[in-house]
Amino acid sequence: MTLSQETDHTSRVQAMFGRISRRYNLMNALMTLGRDQTWRRHVVSMAALPRGGCLLDVGAGTGDIALEALRQEPTLEVTAVDVTPTMMHVGRRRRGGHGVRWCCGDALHLPFPDATFEAVTSGYLVRNVFDVRRAFREQLRVVKPGGRVVCLDTSPPSPHVLRPLVLVYLKVLIPLLGYLVARDIQAYTYLPDSTKAFLTPARLISVMESAGFQNVRHRQFMLGTQVACVGVRPEEQGT
Ligand SMILES: C[S@@+](CC[C@H](N)C(=O)[O-])C[C@H]1O[C@@H](n2cnc3c(N)ncnc32)[C@H](O)[C@@H]1O
Repeated sequence: MTLSQETDHTSRVQAMFGRISRRYNLMNALMTLGRDQTWRRHVVSMAALPRGGCLLDVGAGTGDIALEALRQEPTLEVTAVDVTPTMMHVGRRRRGGHGVRWCCGDALHLPFPDATFEAVTSGYLVRNVFDVRRAFREQLRVVKPGGRVVCLDTSPPSPHVLRPLVLVYLKVLIPLLGYLVARDIQAYTYLPDSTKAFLTPARLISVMESAGFQNVRHRQFMLGTQVACVGVRPEEQGT
């Protein structure tokens, strides 16, 4: 894996989110029947932030997790970092958006010193990065010892009785909505394809552990199509 492959990958992802930024929140609400905000609420709870703590949300997009964190605890200092400026433009203009510190940057090269934040969150980021383990290593570096890192993402369909339903949802419904609402079938074909190719919850946990996290636990939502993993940076950590 070369630096130019990494740069190409990130540019492609950035261009895609740039195209769909204006319809991003509407599409999420339609695809999940509004459940996505509940999962983000769980992500913020799992981060267990202290009053007045500093939170970093990586791949923050239009700020759903960052804004939810401020709704739950207005004393927090919330920083949102993303590689796509247009996603953050949308987020900045949302209610409460002025209370977030928005910052353009790459999840694989976070522009923050070591041990800066009490917790780090990400929603639907890691499936999109060039190197998942490196993204977690970066998050481990910037969270304080004892702090938590929480990751929410989609999971490949598991072999349960409703799997055919999940496959129709991924193969037909999402691209159709993407075509009708976002006018971007490519982005909403990428979403199910990258979900099917992504790590299972067990693999995601093991990548977090191999990146250096302890006590990694997870929760699943919506027939196992969504997973939230949380891990702790050990107190004595040589990063
Ligand atoms: C699916 S959106 C998720 C947005 C938001 N976190 C949410 O929960 O809705 C993924 C976001 O990750 C960002 N992203 C993808 N690769 C990135 C990278 N290497 N560094 C920083 N942000 C990245 C994209 O620009 C996009 O805004």
